[in-house]
Amino acid sequence: MSRGLQENIKMKRKIGVLTGGGDCPGLNNAVKQVVETATERGYEVEGLTEGWKGAIMAALGELPIETVTLPLNPISVRKINREGGTRLMSSRETPFNYKKMDVSDLVIKFLNDRYYSVITIGGEDTNGSSGKAARKGLRVVGIPKTIDKDLCGTDITLGFESAVDYVTKQLERLRSTAGSHGMTYFVEIMGRRAGHLAYWSAVGDDSEFLTIPEAEIDMDLLFERIVKRRESMPMERGYTMDGRRYNIVAVAEGTKIKGLGEIRQGKKDNSGNIYVGGIADYLTKEFEARTKYEARPLVLGHLQRAGSPVPRDRLLGRFFGIKAIELIEKGDFGYMVSLRGSEVGKVSLDRVIDRMRILDAERCYDSSNFRPILRGSFNHEIEVDKPKH
Ligand code: F6P
Repeated sequence: MSRGLQENIKMKRKIGVLTGGGDCPGLNNAVKQVVETATERGYEVEGLTEGWKGAIMAALGELPIETVTLPLNPISVRKINREGGTRLMSSRETPFNYKKMDVSDLVIKFLNDRYYSVITIGGEDTNGSSGKAARKGLRVVGIPKTIDKDLCGTDITLGFESAVDYVTKQLERLRSTAGSHGMTYFVEIMGRRAGHLAYWSAVGDDSEFLTIPEAEIDMDLLFERIVKRRESMPMERGYTMDGRRYNIVAVAEGTKIKGLGEIRQGKKDNSGNIYVGGIADYLTKEFEARTKYEARPLVLGHLQRAGSPVPRDRLLGRFFGIKAIELIEKGDFGYMVSLRGSEVGKVSLDRVIDRMRILDAERCYDSSNFRPILRGSFNHEIEVDKPKH
């Protein structure tokens, strides 16, 4: 970068911030922390709306800049820390495949001309695009978020703890009605091709059974286990049906069935990800057809991403927001903020591109009994290439 341009950018001291991908609790607080820290240190902050889409539309002249940007200051963000969703709105657009075109050069130029640096708060798709853009010269810093927790280079992502909290509570809540009817419930839990959310929620609830995408399931064996558990519960006096004869089966939406694979919805999002889902329904129908017992599907759906952040997500938003500004101040572009153990640090955005972090099923899952194996550690995850569908 030429000295003249460097000076020009320094003078501007304006930072852009966007939130991309599926929303989650904690985004607004991260934005608030970015704004407060940046303002304290003499920067202006501007929000870009709808993830990468706002920047793309402004760069291509499809919309005026004022329509896709929002000036942010400590007063305007004062109360947003406890709100769910994202005030800046979100989308799954990427400059590398917008209406089937690569418009990244235009978008990078637009952002580098307008801002000292951009902060992208997102998951693998949003921050993967940031990584690719950083390779082409964008001054960008990422903040990790996703309820799926499938992002590489960090132990945790914003939104995950809130989603686990919600799902665990729903599984637990379901027990009273499941128990009253001796029912088997197949509860479908988000997470795409990673089982973290289903896994830790099932651990929290101590669900009777769990299935994860990382371990293909033998459906007949699963049904055999469910029926066996049901029938092995002793009848007690005063009960025609013992209240303990019900089963909660926590089913990650990306679970693969032997010989069939994952259940797909037949459509893709703008980032090219295939939608998985429908497995609870499928398992319910098969269970009723293959055993003499009734079952019900329950799809928790987008409620898993909704609502306000739990305290830990608020704390993470604070740490991540502050760290992002520190990286920008040092000129450490091309990094994503991360949490490793108890340390808030940074990881190259390169690490995020086309990779994902999943459960190491061999170490943490018993695929014959469909139960988690807990070894007294949270560290049973591996990083792998993202499947190319
Ligand atoms: O990536 C977050 C996530 O909630 C996944 O768990 C889920 O499969 C997907 O997004 C749903 O996407 P959409 O919001 O586009 O329906």
